[in-house]
Amino acid sequence: MSYLEITQEEPAEATDGVWLTCIECGEHFPPFAGIRYTCDECEGLLEVRYADLPTFADFGDDESAFHGGVWRYSDALPFDEGVSLPEGDTPLHNVPRLEDEIGVERLRVKHEGMNPTGSFKDRGMTVGVRVAQAVGVDRLACASTGNTSAALSAYGSRAGLEVLVLLPAGKVAAGKIAQASLHGARILEVDGNFDRCLDIVKDLADRGEAYLLNSLNPFRLEGQKTIGLEIMEQFMAEEGDFPDRIVLPVGNAGNTAALYKAFRELEATGAIDEDQIPKITGVQAEGSAPMVEAIEEGWDHIERWDDVETKATAIRIGNPVNAPKALPGVRETGGTAVAVTDAEITDAQRSLAEEGVGVEPASAASIAGLRKLREEGVVDTDEQVVCLTTGHLLKDPDAAAEAGTDPEPVPADTDDVLDHLRS
Ligand code: F0G
Repeated sequence: MSYLEITQEEPAEATDGVWLTCIECGEHFPPFAGIRYTCDECEGLLEVRYADLPTFADFGDDESAFHGGVWRYSDALPFDEGVSLPEGDTPLHNVPRLEDEIGVERLRVKHEGMNPTGSFKDRGMTVGVRVAQAVGVDRLACASTGNTSAALSAYGSRAGLEVLVLLPAGKVAAGKIAQASLHGARILEVDGNFDRCLDIVKDLADRGEAYLLNSLNPFRLEGQKTIGLEIMEQFMAEEGDFPDRIVLPVGNAGNTAALYKAFRELEATGAIDEDQIPKITGVQAEGSAPMVEAIEEGWDHIERWDDVETKATAIRIGNPVNAPKALPGVRETGGTAVAVTDAEITDAQRSLAEEGVGVEPASAASIAGLRKLREEGVVDTDEQVVCLTTGHLLKDPDAAAEAGTDPEPVPADTDDVLDHLRS
């Protein structure tokens, strides 16, 4: 039994129409009194619930200064405004050559790398840091493959709070460490992978040493839910329809869970019908694919992979903590999950770059996964698809340089340059 169904019936624990529900046992908790990341009773994952959910017509109707981006959807969020840079309102690119080559009716790329710190994590942090202010903490912490740490450092600094980040030593792309560093986080490089970093940060949070802002924190996913809301609105405005499928890279499965929640809420208000929910389709790297394994095996849980490896370091994760929310999301929407090789990821990164869209390796996994599912006939030619690209090219300059062309040294002389070009 799981309690993923959206009900708007307000329990006694609610504050201003907002409360937390355990998805495993259905227990309710107050949203901001006390700090909890999982259920007090059974340690199940928590979800934020609302007594009054908006429909499309309600979005953007509030005249506040935080009108744009994520806060356009404030009616679906626990606050009306937050610590903002601002975030969201990202482009939904046309990629005509890729669309032709892959062979689907419509392909659009939602480029989350265009957020202020270069990844979708900003959407989660603008809400998460606002909640941290509400519960009254002074030190924020996360484990990270890089992007979460960059976003938390920026938003935490802006809020004037101390930030602690735990990173897997040697496995975080240069751009991300540079961001965490300049925004002033205290950076601990852990001799272990991301999953071990998260184990430790959870322990620190449980001991009251810091407020956890990984996607285990249900409020982060509220912010990330706006990716789904934006895709639905943009696609409808530009294509006159909702997309059939959304393909996204999966690491800790936070976005997968967040998209599913966005669609469950839209369905609960009657804004969309059940058959209009896009098929949520997750992509992992072959070297770290516990979600794909669970979907293929028909499991209702994932088995943690202790040894994970991929060039797409952002999704080098063996224990996706949001799996209990994400696995039903993939299944109930009629989606699937697929694993791709590092070489396929690099090819997809180049294909996107040819369309002018620069992404980091993990992001390109969505295109690589769609390509594979199309080749296997799992995705039909008549589908309208949105691929999510989660992080900017400059996050991982080494991977970009390796996938791209090499600079050619030439003398500082026009004739020599011409000779070189002709040779
Ligand atoms: N793509 C990028 C660029 C990411 O940074 C991440 C996660 C994902 C995809 C996977 O998203 O966890 O919601 O399934 N990065 C986290 C981090 C783990 O620490 O930056 P997810």
